[in-house]
Amino acid sequence: MPEPDAVPAAELPPGTVRRAGDWAVGNRGPGPDGEDRYFAVSRRCRHQLADLAEGSVDADGCLVCPWHQARYDVRTGEMVEGPRGFLGYHGPTPVYTQLVRVIGQLARLRVRRATRTGDDVVLE
Ligand code: FES
Repeated sequence: MPEPDAVPAAELPPGTVRRAGDWAVGNRGPGPDGEDRYFAVSRRCRHQLADLAEGSVDADGCLVCPWHQARYDVRTGEMVEGPRGFLGYHGPTPVYTQLVRVIGQLARLRVRRATRTGDDVVLE
């Protein structure tokens, strides 16, 4: 049975993200050493609080919000691309997107270290 701040590694193949309490825990896939790179960030999107544990990991290893697709660097918690839309609107919003990105750079997600320990990915 995993500990509260842990996710079974079998549930975190490369490119996936899961919930662990208040955290979104994911796997960016193998790094240069061939080992999977796990991450943990706070779950609430800085835009409109969508649950990032329901998001996805893109080809660059960024965490993508499930609502308006804001992108986060999971190593720093910084929003690197702003949302495309707001509330129920999904589409181009260039000025708004840049404005929210600046806010997301300043108000970063919280970040925890996530490492493989035995069969689990454990948050430190
Ligand atoms: S709530 Fe995350 S991008 Fe809008």
